[in-house]
Amino acid sequence: MWWTKHFQISNIPDLSGKIAIITGSNTGIGKLCATEMARKNCEIIVASRSEDKGQAAVTDIKSATGNQKVEYMKLDLMSLKSVKAFADQFKSKYDKLDILLNNAGVMSCPYGLSEDGIETQFATNHVGHYYLTMQLLPILIKSGPSRIVNVSSMAHWSTTVSVPKLEQVSQKKGYNATIQYGFTKVPFTISIFEACNILFSRELTKRLESKGINNVYVNCNHPGIVSSELSRHVVAQNTLLDSLYNNHFAISTENGSLTQLYLATSPEIESKNIKGQYYVPYARPGWFTPYARSEKNATDLWEFTENLLKEKMPDYQGSPI
Ligand SMILES: NC(=O)c1ccc[n+]([C@@H]2O[C@H](COP(=O)([O-])OP(=O)(O)OC[C@H]3O[C@@H](n4cnc5c(N)ncnc54)[C@H](OP(=O)(O)O)[C@@H]3O)[C@@H](O)[C@H]2O)c1
Repeated sequence: MWWTKHFQISNIPDLSGKIAIITGSNTGIGKLCATEMARKNCEIIVASRSEDKGQAAVTDIKSATGNQKVEYMKLDLMSLKSVKAFADQFKSKYDKLDILLNNAGVMSCPYGLSEDGIETQFATNHVGHYYLTMQLLPILIKSGPSRIVNVSSMAHWSTTVSVPKLEQVSQKKGYNATIQYGFTKVPFTISIFEACNILFSRELTKRLESKGINNVYVNCNHPGIVSSELSRHVVAQNTLLDSLYNNHFAISTENGSLTQLYLATSPEIESKNIKGQYYVPYARPGWFTPYARSEKNATDLWEFTENLLKEKMPDYQGSPI
């Protein structure tokens, strides 16, 4: 049954000697994952855009777990320069990376553009994480076996209704906040943005395997409908919806963290060779839409993102694989 827990916090193995970057881990599901992985002796980089919130999370995690190897590094996914600076700072300090948990996200926010002129949800949920992953891929390959987890959403189902054209993804005309969210997370969802996470995970897996790189395990997940700050734009004008969503409808942050904790830490990922998959609560394979299944969509998104990055960041040499 869907509510059967195939993975629990108590199943997280000892992570001594491992280093993880968790984006957006100053609050919500990301902070829960950071705390529970730190409790199992993982060294954690809290990658977050606000220094105040990030440092506060570091203090909380250290005090809750006793693990002192928890560090804040600034990362703003709405700025490609910030992503590059974060990756450079990490690589100057560390020579290995075991787990990259691409967790940060925004949902259904009003139309806006990033510092680089990219629509907010596409910039945060897909392009920023794509660029971050490309900057860190060589160190992840060198550290193998390593993991990349891209947090998607069931909202990718919106892609069954409508999908923005890639060339028009940052345009204000025709912008629909909900459809855009689903699209960005689409790796396996209907929404274009949620779909992007699924398509990216599958294409990255395919490209790694085609180069004979078999020790980087890339997967993505829908965490569940989880009580967190994510719904801030949806409920901003509606306290009844806020109450229903966060108090009655949504699962706890702890339960919402289980599926990505499974993909990030369970020894089963390697023993069962789980790669390029989409998992749903609680830690079981999920079904994803035809849009997210399409190899062409995955390749198109990859090439579009590569070209966009080369345009916005002239020093970008292109994907290392
Ligand atoms: N909650 C759900 O029901 C649900 C369902 C499906 C998928 N998800 C996905 O799960 C992930 C975690 O969501 P959550 O529920 O924990 O939401 P949350 O409580 O709103 O946390 C989101 C995190 O992302 C960070 N973030 C947003 N924009 C950023 C940027 N430009 N640069 C760096 N960090 C940024 C936020 O930082 P600030 O605190 O500074 O804003 C926050 O730390 C997201 O990818 C979301 O799409 C959640």
